[in-house]
Amino acid sequence: MNQDFWNTKNGTISYFPDGSLNIAYEVLDKHLNAPNRNKTALIFEPENGDTVLYTFLDLIKLSNKIANILTNLGVVKGDRVFLFLPRIPELYASFLGIVKTGAIAGTMFSAFGESALKDRFENSEAKIVLTTKELSARIEQVKNRLPKLEHILVVDEENFKQQLEQASEQFSIVHMNSEDYAFMLYTSGTTGKPKGIVHAHGGIIQQKESAKLVLDLKDDDVYWCTADPGWVTGIVYSILANWSLGITTIVYGGRFDAQIWYQILAKNKVSVWYTAPTAIRMLMAKGDDLVKQHDLSHVRFLASVGEPLNPEAIIWAQKVFGKPFHDTWWQTETGSIMIANSPTLEIKPGSMGKPLPWMNANVFNQEGSQAQVDEEGDLVLHPPWPSIMRTVWNNQEKYDSYFKNGWYITGDRAKKDKDGYFWFVGRADDVIKTSGERVGPFEVETALIDFPGVVEAGVIGKPDSLRGEIIKAFVVIKPEVKPSEELKEQLKEHVKKYLAGHAYPREIEFIDKLPKTRSGKIMRRILRAKEMGQDIGDTSTLEEY
Ligand code: WTA
Repeated sequence: MNQDFWNTKNGTISYFPDGSLNIAYEVLDKHLNAPNRNKTALIFEPENGDTVLYTFLDLIKLSNKIANILTNLGVVKGDRVFLFLPRIPELYASFLGIVKTGAIAGTMFSAFGESALKDRFENSEAKIVLTTKELSARIEQVKNRLPKLEHILVVDEENFKQQLEQASEQFSIVHMNSEDYAFMLYTSGTTGKPKGIVHAHGGIIQQKESAKLVLDLKDDDVYWCTADPGWVTGIVYSILANWSLGITTIVYGGRFDAQIWYQILAKNKVSVWYTAPTAIRMLMAKGDDLVKQHDLSHVRFLASVGEPLNPEAIIWAQKVFGKPFHDTWWQTETGSIMIANSPTLEIKPGSMGKPLPWMNANVFNQEGSQAQVDEEGDLVLHPPWPSIMRTVWNNQEKYDSYFKNGWYITGDRAKKDKDGYFWFVGRADDVIKTSGERVGPFEVETALIDFPGVVEAGVIGKPDSLRGEIIKAFVVIKPEVKPSEELKEQLKEHVKKYLAGHAYPREIEFIDKLPKTRSGKIMRRILRAKEMGQDIGDTSTLEEY
């Protein structure tokens, strides 16, 4: 890391006089007695109903009230407080309210089922969760097995609303060190349960700088990042970086709908739009006429993240919006954008762009040395940098496994061309990216095996022109169970309920036996090759196939 560079940026962050900080101060409270005090911070577009506006002052007051409620319940620095909420203003204010108390804010997708919730509460030992009446039913199912979970606060219940009403609007923000933990979120790897990636307050300096540089955010922008805060993009670029820059930000509470999306863009005169390839492809599928029915002339900068952005999407955007999507690459673990097509960089469609000026990225070959130009290898980054994860919750071994010979190993395969542009090739492991969501095959396999009559299951990502990948499951059932379409539907429903609405296998195939190594590990590589009609490669460690 170029420490001197970040030292020069220290002045862009609001530290307390004692040299400490708190990202909630940098994001919200520094605006209290400053020009942005009465500026609109949040434009909330609900799925049904009227638009609601929150100024920075409104968010400061609401987050203070929440911080007071939490503190009264005994929350102290370092505690984990989780959010299991849909995209409503309370989610955004509570995230910052939690951080104000010095606790670690954790987020979870509202699509999560019982088992996904239980795993996360159990591992993080969360003390409190904020949720809604509708979602709380799922927590109730697992509550008995979570002795550390002391309170379930239901934000749309009368009781909580009264507490909010009565709580003080003043709160003394807890002073934190740059290395103190601020937020965490769970993400999937190949094996085992999802891991809690923990980020520190000090990351804000890079999150803010990257938003300025890559997303080109300016004072009078209206900015829409479509990501849910259950995903790192929805935290870093829909709460932290944007509001630390004082930018008016849209939150849409509903599901994807092309017509509604264009309406939101047009009505609010959105100027900077950060979204994801699957959404872009879904918009493309709805055709150009729909775009033409809306006045999108104020959209000046488009960016994308989460999965490979196909060149067609860039060409399409150029045609219908008159400007391209700028691809950006990063990970939950990196805490901010690492590689990007920054506004000043000439886009090579299909490339992720170049590392940001403060990042040292490289591609390593099998020997662990720099790959040749255009040679595929492991994408690596040189640590540390301010926004890198600080730990994997209660799993030092996992954290250590990310680093090798002084480099951070991303788990992605990539190429670097003669001009220094990086090109994404694929994952080095079995992690699935479906509609931009990261899903671990092991979790889906576990969910499937939980269903009566299933013996074992092997899960892979199958290339899909819309969703990037879809989840495909190969399932072995007991001899007495009859394979049927109905059973497939039951299995899909089971995974949705047990694990998550977005992590269910869209395709299921019943097979007699799974390919395994001699030590009994499922060889997903073989399943993938079989699915793609490819040569199954070296099978020397195969038990039998
Ligand atoms: C993939 C996302 C291709 C990649 C903020 C990475 C991408 C994983 C891109 C991280 C991109 C992300 N092109 N692939 N522009 N951006 N990925 O943690 O495999 O959900 O390792 O964070 O998404 O996913 P995560």
